[in-house]
Amino acid sequence: MGVIRAVVKGCGHYLPERVVENEEFAKTLDTSDEWIRARTGIERRHFAAEGQKTSDLAYEAATNALKNAGMTGDDLDTIILATATPDQTFPSTATRLQHAIGMTGGFAFDIQAVCAGFIYALANATALIESGHAKTVMIVGAETFSRIIDFTDRGTCVLFGDGAGALILQAETGDGTGDDRGVLSTDLNSDGKYNDLLYVDGGVSSTQSTGLLRMQGQEVFKHAVSKLASSGETALKLAGLSAEDIDWIVPHQANLRIIKRTAKKMNVSMDKVVVTVQDHGNTSAASIPLALSVAVKKGQIKTGDLLLVEAIGGGLAWGAAVLRW
Ligand code: COA
Repeated sequence: MGVIRAVVKGCGHYLPERVVENEEFAKTLDTSDEWIRARTGIERRHFAAEGQKTSDLAYEAATNALKNAGMTGDDLDTIILATATPDQTFPSTATRLQHAIGMTGGFAFDIQAVCAGFIYALANATALIESGHAKTVMIVGAETFSRIIDFTDRGTCVLFGDGAGALILQAETGDGTGDDRGVLSTDLNSDGKYNDLLYVDGGVSSTQSTGLLRMQGQEVFKHAVSKLASSGETALKLAGLSAEDIDWIVPHQANLRIIKRTAKKMNVSMDKVVVTVQDHGNTSAASIPLALSVAVKKGQIKTGDLLLVEAIGGGLAWGAAVLRW
């Protein structure tokens, strides 16, 4: 019997022009290129130009995705934009993007699950498509973390970057098996008792200011490997598949050591893992769609490949999804 699947129709990404090498941090902080590379795998990241907003980055990524899919804004009926760094408290950055790409109908909204935001957006888009509420959905991860970094804190400021990535999903009928193209399973989790491990020390109703990012790095690291591997395994089980079936893991790009340990825990070799953290740093909700788009452009990910995507971030919030490209 046929089932509705959310199938990828196109993807795109955008990175701001300014590239910041590790050495730049060593000019003002007690740090070094060697330390940052060894502990994180990061070599460089992009920072948005003055005045360049999250919606501007999202617009470029969305335009590239639409072009890749051969669509215009009016072919979409929904935009879900994942960000923890919106242009304004309200309206949503998604509605700004909706207008910018000339989408005159449908609906657009933001999702806030920090670094897990793209997985949350993907799960929600899939649910809208599978339930018949939407036919064509664009999901976007877009961030300007350079705006909330404490540049005097060497333990966090070297980790993050700015960027955006977008994916267009459309309803298609599948057979209901693991051979179908499209999203095959999603697994979402959060646990608010870990709020204090990774947060921004400001906000509308608390300080009436934006605040800056604070993190207990080692604690986050510990949770990351176990929670990502277990969510990945859950998503595979829900799809009726196993780790041997995976062509590519496309993980959240936070730290190469987390990426390697998670892959090892899942018994997946690193030559099946897409890694872009060296060039992008941690771009939060943008990291997975950026990595997907880069890997497709490089010819790594091809139609029919089985992908596992997984991410964790502030909340803690984490999750995974299995999709056939
Ligand atoms: N350059 C040089 N030294 C640094 C440094 C930097 N950029 N950042 C931290 N250090 C120092 C610390 O001050 C500490 O010094 P001390 O021993 O004199 O106090 C020492 O390095 C060890 O710090 P520690 O926090 O134990 O290092 P670590 O190996 O855990 O690495 C992180 C720190 C942040 C790289 C690591 O914990 C991490 O990646 N955590 C996960 C973070 C993450 O991915 N968050 C986002 C998830 S969405």
